[in-house]
Amino acid sequence: MSTTPKTADAHLRLLADGNQIPLLGLGVWQVPNGPTCVNAVRWALELGYRHIDTAQVYGNEESVGVALRESGVPRDQVFITTKLNPSRTDPAAELERSLKRLGLDYVDLYLVHWPQGGATRAWPGMERARELGHARSIGVSNFGVRELDQVMAAATIRPVVDQVQFSPFEYRRALLDAAHGHGFALEAYSPLGTGRHLSNATVRHVASSAGRTPAQVLLRWCLQRGLVVLSKSTHRERIQENAQIFDFTLSEQDMAALDALDRTGGTDRSLEHSWW
Ligand code: A2P
Repeated sequence: MSTTPKTADAHLRLLADGNQIPLLGLGVWQVPNGPTCVNAVRWALELGYRHIDTAQVYGNEESVGVALRESGVPRDQVFITTKLNPSRTDPAAELERSLKRLGLDYVDLYLVHWPQGGATRAWPGMERARELGHARSIGVSNFGVRELDQVMAAATIRPVVDQVQFSPFEYRRALLDAAHGHGFALEAYSPLGTGRHLSNATVRHVASSAGRTPAQVLLRWCLQRGLVVLSKSTHRERIQENAQIFDFTLSEQDMAALDALDRTGGTDRSLEHSWW
């Protein structure tokens, strides 16, 4: 059973700081700045997405801002995340630069992109960004339980989100349990394994028995396991397909078959091989 706190709107989740986050977001990792990114974000907003996830290191914050303005969707109806490049020293100053690129005066969520230089190094600056009102919520990404415990112990304002690679093949059960124990949300990136998981025989079998596509099954699995999920596509029809995940439920049997695909041993780590 999911332990996701319920809100009035089934497509939202309540964060520990009282803010709300849409359960599905469009991620724009590896989407080049310019028309490709502007189109993807604009299509997503037209198709009902209300959550866009970018980062300083993606290099496409400008395009996210352009698409948001072109869409005509009011700013306060869209949840925008960006992430600190942790090789930079001043998180609050870096967010001000992000805001200029985005053309916004706040982001909804600002994450430490990975724990470079130690889990707590960037945190005082993240708290400062929130105090300045430039980020409504703050959190981390690519933090395992060990790093999260360090941040929690040092924090004045606690992180409310950890964004990690997560899918049935990377079912980080101990990390998910810790997230629920601490009351913060886990967000899944690369839920399709950057596309690799779509051709798996079990995923395809579950998809055909549910009358859904493999992508919808993998995204739905994340929702039913209590995660916020980020899908990425630059194709309009796929962006649309990936949003059709709130009108069906995977059975206990299908969920168990997908759970069994895990290759991490239910780890509490955020990644098997870190790049920092
Ligand atoms: P594209 O952007 O060309 O549509 P992940 O979310 O795990 O990072 O996976 C993203 C990858 O999966 C991208 O290469 C994307 O390709 C592809 N993808 C996204 N949605 C779908 C879909 N519904 N069907 C097939 N491939 C998809």
